[in-house]
Amino acid sequence: MKKLLVTGSSGLIGSEVCTYFDRLGWQVHGVDNNQRAVFFGTSGDTRWNQQRLATTLRRFTHHECDIRDRAGIRQLLGTVRPDAIVHAAAQPSHDRAAAIPFDDFETNAVGTLNLLEAARQVIPESPFVHMSTNKVYGDRPNQIPMRGELARWEYADPQYAEGIPETMSIDQSMHSLFGASKVAADVLVQEYGRYFDMPTCCLRGGCLTGPNHSGVELHGFLSFLVKCNLEAREYRIFGYEGKQVRDNIHAEDVARFIHAFIEAPRSGEVYNLGGGKANSCSIREAFELVESITDIPMRSTYVDENRMGDHICYYSDLSKIRSHYPGWDITIPLVEIFRQIADSWKERMQTAAPHQAQR
Ligand SMILES: NC(=O)c1ccc[n+]([C@@H]2O[C@H](COP(=O)([O-])OP(=O)(O)OC[C@H]3O[C@@H](n4cnc5c(N)ncnc54)[C@H](O)[C@@H]3O)[C@@H](O)[C@H]2O)c1
Repeated sequence: MKKLLVTGSSGLIGSEVCTYFDRLGWQVHGVDNNQRAVFFGTSGDTRWNQQRLATTLRRFTHHECDIRDRAGIRQLLGTVRPDAIVHAAAQPSHDRAAAIPFDDFETNAVGTLNLLEAARQVIPESPFVHMSTNKVYGDRPNQIPMRGELARWEYADPQYAEGIPETMSIDQSMHSLFGASKVAADVLVQEYGRYFDMPTCCLRGGCLTGPNHSGVELHGFLSFLVKCNLEAREYRIFGYEGKQVRDNIHAEDVARFIHAFIEAPRSGEVYNLGGGKANSCSIREAFELVESITDIPMRSTYVDENRMGDHICYYSDLSKIRSHYPGWDITIPLVEIFRQIADSWKERMQTAAPHQAQR
């Protein structure tokens, strides 16, 4: 039986990947220490998701391990000897990183190096999939001329009609400390592919989302936005007239791509992986969509200052990933993503104990 090791297994992407491969009959080993609750407080707690995996999956083993623990990670990989690794553990917030620069870098950059080096020592043939981010491009996409439409910003340069390609420079732009630690990890993952010829890839995510996100204001925008709507709480819009655009991809479509890569791996690849143009929306458009699903008016306040380095308009050009893996494509449209997130929050709100209701 094939074995998969997933870091960040209690998080959004990690848990979806665990579920997907369990369904395929793989033995799944999850690594998570609920660090999200340390980064974001109780509202970021992911224990509920860890418990969900433990009770619903058939062949799941949880390892309470910190990816910063170099010796612990080396020992774990030596014991499990997985046939593939999916690395989804991270400090994932652009804004949070400035307050915790060492925790951010040690998790995102050094933690990734710990995993890569342990993998090189014990299982160099096993595909290694790293969850990178579109923040590796820094704010370079903001230099593209933009056109303001009624409810969203759009690229005015036809070269970007399909979105941002992997050829965009990751150099000499503002990244945030989070973006910088993720650049370090991204380049390391590429290097273990190019220099050591290991089957590695970086998935530079747009907005990855889905029903199992513990969305908070600082990370997981769609999940948090829907939660605010359901609780009739005010959502704070930061700058850009609320017309900033993001492309949203359901975590299951991410898991499906990871499977495609593991089946036919390449070395040192980078792919932009988001919902693409078809699954993109601005905050204003997201308000309209959520209202149409829940029938609850969206409450918001406008803060007339954008988040530093925040993208004005970002959606992924999916041409490269589609050409390398023609059997893969987006299967879950935006409206269905909204529906699933709303249903999941409703269910969690009903079943949560009062002290967990903020989750
Ligand atoms: N969600 C998004 O919109 C998005 C967008 C682009 C890229 N990404 C990337 O995808 C990956 C997964 O994101 P996510 O949304 O699932 O994040 P998440 O916060 O939901 O999950 C990450 C998990 O990693 C765990 N973790 C953090 N530090 C750890 C450590 N030191 N040791 C062990 N476990 C640790 C956390 O407890 C959490 O459960 C991250 O690398 C993130 O940067 C996410």
